[in-house]
Amino acid sequence: MNEKQRLATTLVNPSDKKSEKDYSKYFERVYIPPSLKDAKKRGKEEVKYHKDFVIPEHLKGMGEGRKFYIRTYGCQMNEHDTEVMAGIFMQLGYKPTDSTEDADVILLNTCAIRENAENKVFGEIGHLKPLKMEKPDLILGVCGCMSQEESVVNKILKQYQYVDLIFGTHNIHRLPHLLNEAYMSKEMVVEVWSKEGDVIENLPKVRKGNIKAWVNIMYGCDKFCTYCIVPYTRGKERSRRPEDIIQEVRHLAAQGYKEITLLGQNVNAYGKDFDDIKYGLGDLMDELRKIDIARIRFTTSHPKDFDDRLIEVLAKGGNLVDHIHLPVQSGSSEILKLMARKYTREQYLELVQKIKKAIPNVSLTTDIIVGFPNETDEQFEETLSLYREVGFDSAYTFIYSPREGTPAAKMKDNVPMEVKKERLQRLNALVNEISAQKMKEYEGKVVEVLVEGESKNNPDILAGYTRKNKLVNFKGPKSAIGQLVKVKITKAKTWTLDGEMVEEQIGVTL
Ligand code: 5AD
Ligand code: SF4
Repeated sequence: MNEKQRLATTLVNPSDKKSEKDYSKYFERVYIPPSLKDAKKRGKEEVKYHKDFVIPEHLKGMGEGRKFYIRTYGCQMNEHDTEVMAGIFMQLGYKPTDSTEDADVILLNTCAIRENAENKVFGEIGHLKPLKMEKPDLILGVCGCMSQEESVVNKILKQYQYVDLIFGTHNIHRLPHLLNEAYMSKEMVVEVWSKEGDVIENLPKVRKGNIKAWVNIMYGCDKFCTYCIVPYTRGKERSRRPEDIIQEVRHLAAQGYKEITLLGQNVNAYGKDFDDIKYGLGDLMDELRKIDIARIRFTTSHPKDFDDRLIEVLAKGGNLVDHIHLPVQSGSSEILKLMARKYTREQYLELVQKIKKAIPNVSLTTDIIVGFPNETDEQFEETLSLYREVGFDSAYTFIYSPREGTPAAKMKDNVPMEVKKERLQRLNALVNEISAQKMKEYEGKVVEVLVEGESKNNPDILAGYTRKNKLVNFKGPKSAIGQLVKVKITKAKTWTLDGEMVEEQIGVTL
């Protein structure tokens, strides 16, 4: 261990200490890495809810005259964490910038889901080196899922010693203190909690837009699918209390937001950790649908926990959209077993039937991994046949990527990379074929579009999304931005629709 590693600071056992003074007792001048082994052994500790986030008096104004830049990798959960960190920066007096050259603090909010996601981040840390050398006062920080991996922290300590700050996913609320430490310390500040944090309710947020908003309903994941790093990087399942979520959604509705996406790594496990009430996602959705907001979505689902109560509530429609993202991962029961998904191909298909019966017009999308260790041609064919049978609208498809510390990473893998790539291509061809077919059905129909702004490629064209999350490009007045309008589809492409705004509703609405 070199000098820098030895001196890197790590905070241990932070859960019940509130003030800066109390925390300081727990700073150790040795580096204690986050531990995947500990994550796997986690028990049923009580979750504490806090509403007492404040910027300490002595840190107020820390950002005066300074600018921050956050680059976000990965999923919507990470995007939303970035909104929280931006909120904290703003409360500290920092201003946002979208140029790294202009920034006084650069944070990389990282994703650990696959190796290529991690490689991109290491590439970026490398690119930022000359800037850091030129501007020694610049604070360069790495946070998010990768920071929760001990191998990543070790690599940064060894190979990227110019990084100033590393912190994880459980201690975002400590940002003011961590920045302060980074300014004061000549050494790299590392604060990663291997134990998940409590739920902090009143963190500030600077939301990216004023039309759509993300709302966390739970944190963490207890599913431990054999390929996935998330249960380790995001910790155990902790649900927010329903009243806090309902209040946040009401507040967003009052501010004029039109669409809410409820977020969690496994939203169907919502409420399972409550000891005092029996309350699940279906119950929550049943409350939320009474709020005057145009659309409510949720992501992401696990088929095992998708219960009848939720289906019954979703069938009520209204502001609950008829689009469900339901990751299947594989169409083979043997592979699903190796993945520890806890359902079979037949059970997944049964669930799909139940959903389609209750919500006849439902659109389903999914996630699929190809080339899982030892996946045979026949097993891959089962994935293709399941895809056709369900008739998904679209899918995110991935080649399996071994993640250190997960059970699948220890499995022997006899599928050559060329075979994995070929399977991905075949699957993508099917995904495109079915998507194109489904999109074609829209031609001549009228859809409801939530207009988000001008199209990226042409400022004369507006762009927005349907209830089923299809991107529609159409001609219309700028005054339509932020509104729900009716658009007649004139042309379907594989992934997007072209149309014309119509004054009144005509024909069927999809
Ligand atoms: N390799 C490839 N894909 C993965 N996913 C999660 N872990 C891995 C991995 N190790 C995919 C799953 C998940 C999505 C978010 O990422 O399909 O649903
Ligand atoms: Fe990536 Fe998962 Fe972390 Fe999201 S939660 S950033 S998908 S590793």
